[in-house]
Amino acid sequence: MLSRLFGCFILQLNRIRLFAGLPLDVVSGGSVNQFRAISAGLKALKLLGLEGVELPIWWGVVEHESMGKYNWSGYLTIAEMVRKAGLKLYVTLCFHASSQPKIPLPEWVLDIGKTKSNIFFKDRAGKPYRGCLSLAVDELAVLNGKTPMEVYQDFCESFKSAFSAFIGSTITGITMGLGPDGELRYPSHRGFAKSDTVPGAGEFQCYDKNMLHLLKQHAEACGKPKWGLGGPHNAPAYSELPTANTFFKDHGGSWESPYGDFFLSWYSSQLIAHGDRLLSLASLVFSDSAVNIFGKVPLMHSWHGTRSHPSELTAGFYNTATRKGYEEVAEMFARNSCKIILPGMDQSDKYQLKESLSSPESLLAEIGTACNKHGVGISGQNSTVGAPDGLKQIKKNMLSENLNDSFIFQRIGAQFFAPEHFPLFIEFVRKLNQPELHSGNLPTKEGTTTATDSVHTRSNLSIHMQSA
Ligand SMILES: *[C@@H]1O[C@H](CO)[C@@H](O)[C@H](O)[C@H]1NC(C)=O
Ligand SMILES: *[C@@H]1O[C@H](CO)[C@@H](O)[C@H](O)[C@H]1NC(C)=O
Ligand SMILES: *[C@@H]1O[C@H](CO)[C@@H](O)[C@H](O)[C@H]1NC(C)=O
Ligand SMILES: *[C@@H]1O[C@H](CO)[C@@H](O)[C@H](O)[C@H]1NC(C)=O
Repeated sequence: MLSRLFGCFILQLNRIRLFAGLPLDVVSGGSVNQFRAISAGLKALKLLGLEGVELPIWWGVVEHESMGKYNWSGYLTIAEMVRKAGLKLYVTLCFHASSQPKIPLPEWVLDIGKTKSNIFFKDRAGKPYRGCLSLAVDELAVLNGKTPMEVYQDFCESFKSAFSAFIGSTITGITMGLGPDGELRYPSHRGFAKSDTVPGAGEFQCYDKNMLHLLKQHAEACGKPKWGLGGPHNAPAYSELPTANTFFKDHGGSWESPYGDFFLSWYSSQLIAHGDRLLSLASLVFSDSAVNIFGKVPLMHSWHGTRSHPSELTAGFYNTATRKGYEEVAEMFARNSCKIILPGMDQSDKYQLKESLSSPESLLAEIGTACNKHGVGISGQNSTVGAPDGLKQIKKNMLSENLNDSFIFQRIGAQFFAPEHFPLFIEFVRKLNQPELHSGNLPTKEGTTTATDSVHTRSNLSIHMQSA
């Protein structure tokens, strides 16, 4: 009955299916947090016409205790709730840590890292990044005699067998974690940049023992052993402006020299090879399942207006004013029949700090063009920082080639179903669906109720149930 009342408000997003991300810590310990609120919320999302929800599954939660010991129980409960609600589920396999809320890597991995800090990426000062493993150990037996690739594969296979009843029916998409924050990139910008400060250039992350070893080998193979002794000596530090040193200089910077090309080619090809290893692993494990495989590519848009694109270069994308670096990324996704998740769909150029020479819109268009050329579908997300006019920008992107698969709203927070938050999301969905129809002219038949009112009732219900 309720869904019939909703009938007139649920409009189809013609091409784009809408998903909402569940809270990052929806499962902790092995059980579901706020079970009743989530359960009521899923029903409300279904009524709003969403295709499904996205569920982050953490390595540090499932394989927390010891290698090969998995506990999927909380996540299985969610999958069952989602199935019951008649929604689809996109699952994200997170082989990284979260800082807010705090979800570290598995304890046994961190223990290994205490004595072997070179399993982590390091910056020039030698400071390790404990948010994920360095790509340089992918195929080294550093985890109790296994390689990280073997450990990731065991994890995927255990997931596949635990969720066999859901994969292909409820679970229609699987995102493979590829690095920091799940993204294909180096941790070149550590910590959160404040929105009112100009972001720095970021730092190259080639200083752990194994990365340095690979660099040395590569330099020797190229007949340039001296180039393999370390990273660029004239690159600025994390928060320094690109102009603080000579590597990224717009004209005559080292990035444009033969050395720069040597280093940047190597640095970016290591990242692409890492993405290729993980995505081909996922394609292989799930080859007999009817699911889409995704990987996330970041939108490193600050300094995109310079010739050298420092933020992209330090993150591992060799994309400059003179080189189309996303072609090889898209080609790698195409080779593995994977789709790309792109964040930042809510970012527009006009709200960026002028001094950061940032351009999310042109970067998005560049990546979109590369994906289009290689036949790679794109699923969009909004970025983790709320953007002014974000909705307008998301809608604009939905009509362009920058997004053609699905949109994953990031993210339902703990307070999401509270009366003051949920109506905002209803507005978001309604406006997304109805370009012409404004809240003022919603059809209201006698004896029926508007979508907003009904979901208000639901959200009050969930609050009530929580406290019950
Ligand atoms: C998984 O975790 C849950 C919740 O902590 C617990 O009840 C259950 O026994 C665990 N299962 C296994 C196989 O350890
Ligand atoms: C999205 O775009 C890619 C690349 O052009 C194309 O191969 C794919 O079929 C499109 N997907 C949809 C759902 O339109
Ligand atoms: C996602 O976009 C919506 C609409 O612009 C915004 O309200 C929300 O805060 C964004 N989410 C995050 C995590 O920034
Ligand atoms: C639910 O909450 C909304 C917003 O606070 C309020 O306007 C509405 O009257 C409430 N509905 C019920 C049934 O309590």
